[in-house]
Parts: sequence; C-alpha cells; structure tokens
Amino acid sequence: MPAPESDLRSPEWFRSVVFYELPVRTFFDSNGDGIGDLPGVLEKLDYLVDLGVGAIWLLPFYKSPWRDDGYDISDHFTVDPRLGTIDDLDRLVEAAHGRGLRIIGDLVANHVSDEHPWFQEARKSRDSPKRSWFLWSDTGTEFSGARVIFPDYEKSNWTWDDVAGQYYFHRFFHWQPDLNYDTSAVRAEILNFARFWLGHGLDGFRCDAVPYLYKREGTTCAHLPEVHQFFQDLRGMMDAEFPGTVIVSEANGTIAETVAYFDRSHEFQMVMEFPLMPNLFLGFAERNPRRILDVLRATLPGVPTDCGWAYFLRNHDELSLERMSESERAVFFREMSLPSDARIHNGVRRRLAPLLGGDDQSVLMLTSLILALPGAPFLYYGDEIGMGDRVDLPDRDAVRTPMQWANDPSAGFSRAPPSSLTRPLVVEPAFAPSRRNVADEESQANSLLSRMRTVLRVRAAHATVFSSDRFEGVDVGDRPVLGFWRAGSEYQILCLYNFGAEPSTGQLELPGSLWASPVELVRGQGSTVSGRTFRFRLAPRGFAWTLFLTRRERGAPA
Ligand code: BGC
Repeated sequence: MPAPESDLRSPEWFRSVVFYELPVRTFFDSNGDGIGDLPGVLEKLDYLVDLGVGAIWLLPFYKSPWRDDGYDISDHFTVDPRLGTIDDLDRLVEAAHGRGLRIIGDLVANHVSDEHPWFQEARKSRDSPKRSWFLWSDTGTEFSGARVIFPDYEKSNWTWDDVAGQYYFHRFFHWQPDLNYDTSAVRAEILNFARFWLGHGLDGFRCDAVPYLYKREGTTCAHLPEVHQFFQDLRGMMDAEFPGTVIVSEANGTIAETVAYFDRSHEFQMVMEFPLMPNLFLGFAERNPRRILDVLRATLPGVPTDCGWAYFLRNHDELSLERMSESERAVFFREMSLPSDARIHNGVRRRLAPLLGGDDQSVLMLTSLILALPGAPFLYYGDEIGMGDRVDLPDRDAVRTPMQWANDPSAGFSRAPPSSLTRPLVVEPAFAPSRRNVADEESQANSLLSRMRTVLRVRAAHATVFSSDRFEGVDVGDRPVLGFWRAGSEYQILCLYNFGAEPSTGQLELPGSLWASPVELVRGQGSTVSGRTFRFRLAPRGFAWTLFLTRRERGAPA
C-alpha cells in the first residue's frame, strides 16, 4: 500500500508528509550481530507505511568511529561497514520509493572526525595541501565570541595537537575538527558529498549544525551571511542537478535568525521550528497554551508559500533549553519532575513519554498538535509507542536505545542476546519492552500506537488542508485551550487542545462562511451546535479535530 498523499512527483511533496527520524544503528538488526543495519530498516518499511509516515530521515550512516554516533565522519563516500553497504542503501532507497516513501539523509557539513584522512593529512605539516581545510592557531585564543556548545565535555573550542604543533578549532567535541569554509576546495567537496548520496537516490538532507560553518572575529560565529550563501549554493546545485530534492535546516536561534534560513525560498525548504519547541513543553508545564499561539502568530507569517516549518517534539539530541529564561526553566523543571541526571549541556536528555509523565494522552495531544500545524511534522522513532530512556547511559545515548519491536529479551530488535546489543535496552518498568513494544501495541485498539495511527490516518486523509498555509488562531476565552482553524477550499478544520489537567468546556461563534454542521474527525468528549454557537468538551489533555463545510454562494454543497 503506497504511503497516503505522498506524491513523489510533486516538487512540494514535503509539505504534505510526516517525517520519521530513525537511527540505522538502533532501529532493527537483520543479521543478528546486535547492531541495527540498512537491510533492517528495509524490513521495517511496511511498519512505517502502516504508521502513516511519508518520509524517513536517516541519521548519519557514513563511515565513522562513532564517538558522536556518526556525526564524526571518517569517510563521506561510504556506508559504515557495521550498518551495511552502498548496495544495501540503494536497495533501501528503491524499496522506500516503491512504497511511496521519501528518504532523506543527514548532511554533516561543519566538521569531520579527527580520524578522517583529510585531518590526518592536514596535521602532518604546515605545508600539507589539506592544512587550510581546517582552522589552526598558535595561541588558541581566536573567535572567543563563539560559545562552547557541549560545555559538559569541552572547556574551549580550541585543542592543542602535538602532531600539528598548533591548536585546531572545533565547535563540538575535540575529536570533531571544524572544516574551514574559507577554503574553496572544502566547499566543493561538501557539495560533492551531497551530490554523491543524491546520486544514490536520497531525496534530500537534514543539514546538521547549520549556523556554525563560518567563523569571524568579533562575532558569535553563528548565523553569519556567508553561511546563508553556502546553503544557497547547495540548494542551487540541488535544484539544478536533482530537482525535487529538499534541505531541512538544523539551526537553533531566535525567530529572526531561523526565519532567515528560508531566505525568500532561495535557501532551505524546511527549517526546524526551534523557537516553538520549548514553548510547547512550557505551555504543557504551565497548563496554559497562550504562549504557543503567540509564537505561532510570530513565526508563521515569515514562511514563504513554497516552504514550511519542520516541527518536532523530541529528537536524538537533548531537548534544548537555550531559549528559555531562568524563570521559565524553573517552571519547566518543577512541573516536569525531572531527575537531576537528566540534565545535559544546555538541555534535558529524556524521551517524550517520560517527559510527559508516561501519560499516553499527553503524548498524543502534543503529537497531534504538531501534526495539525502548517509545515512538516517530524516524529522520533519509538515515541509512537511511548518508549522511555536511560539517563544512566552517557551523554545523549540516553534517548538512543534500541527500538522495542516485541516483548522478548532483546526487544525484537535483534537475535543477539541483550548483552551483545549495540546499546542497552530501556529497563524502567513503565517503559521497558515488556510494557512498550510494537507487537503488543499493534494488537490493542486503545494503545498509544493504535491511536497514533488513527490520528496520522486522519491527517493524511485531509493532507490538502493540513498542508495549506492557512492558519487562524481562535479566541476561546480564559481557558487552558489552544484553538485554531485550518482552512482548505471546500472545508475548514477546527483544532482544539486542552492543556489543562481537568476537563474543559467552551464555546465559539462559527463564522458565517461555514455550515453549522460539524463532522468530528477526532472526537473530543462531545460537541453541540445551537444556532451558530459551537460548544465543545475536552478531556484533560484531550483534543478534537472538527470539520465544517464551507458555504457556497448558492445552495448547499454538493
Ligand atoms: C547533531 C548532534 C551532534 C552535533 C555535532 C548536532 O546538531 O544533531 O547529534 O552531536 O550536531 O555534529
């Protein structure tokens, strides 16, 4: 069965699909060595189609020493042998396309592994042709305006290298030297990196660590104009050589900084919605969605019509708290009752379900919120079954444990014994494979997975409305309810979300342009209409999607 509403020929395919982020390493192990692999992803494609996603974002699968889970590349032009081969990737792409699924990779452009031959060559001598591919210093004092991104592990962006006899610059871990984008050969090689995998059929990339490519003295070394130029060049190449492929930016910043990556449609088609994400959780913690509507009203108008925000709740990194004020953070920590060892860097390493107190209804409510906004929602593997995390594992491994396919010792992830898995399984009883797994949840009509599928199906059936730009906030008075209209040409959908811990009722006057005969697409606790007044009732953390036909000039709709 092809994925719904995913028209592979449409240049704007990305606006109507739901993306699913997955790590090859911990998704499914096809050969029993304890490590997930590309043939394993292929075996699970039908699961993704049934779930209702239309595109996959594969986390880095290139050759790497895996000191940063593949974001430390040691060969851009091959698949890490533990994950499979290029032929396996070709087969996966073909099989995905055959099912109507798109598949994007991860373009890690800012840095490489210190094991990469480019760096090994560069460090050998000041005369090496690769020396200028990296940034060197005799003092390690330059670019002091660039903050350290992983402060729990690194104290400086410069590390001394005995072999090179100089310091080298790294924005992330010290084993990830930054490339020097002022060297034209670097820019050309990263475009070749993109070309290579697009040539193997990828439909685009999520671009990693976008803001940091260029460094300039006296700045924060983030979001510089040169960065935009580079990505416009990448986009230009992709449009010319691989029409229909897309790029998504990972650029955390203010609203103005993030909106700039659309650059009037010349740059990224999609930009990760970092300004909204922390507000979704804060609104949840405060039981008051007001701030969410405020952010949406500020971020939506800046999006060109052929682009879209990429919404997400959780991903493979920590939930960044960078954009929260001190007092907001205090509320967040108090209300989300987080264990102290869940904190890392400038954020929190927890998965969605444990963050929301293990409450399926809350997981569903927030997920269905990002599913209903104009743009592309991104789901993180395992969140659809309410998987948990392991804050006892180092760094962000906490949220990168093997997918839980079944209630068996290795969670149906692998034939290897649990002790041989590439990463340990979740053990906390409420989230462990015995309680949370695909096989069991598939067989239960009321499980999180089954309800998730239903919502995704409804969204797919109304993809033209949900992928349109039209969004209008609704005033529901002084209630913990977020409301908005999504409009298509034939009908409009009213989306309501109760952020309160108590049931919520309310009413609103229907616009004269609509027929006052609601069709409940996703039922709340019931609604009624009298005259033009629509009354609703929502469960705690409940939500409802209700359809109203547009009145035509003459007579009733056909
Ligand atoms: C990725 C991280 C990674 C970092 C360095 C990020 O933005 O999402 O997982 O550690 O870039 O590559």
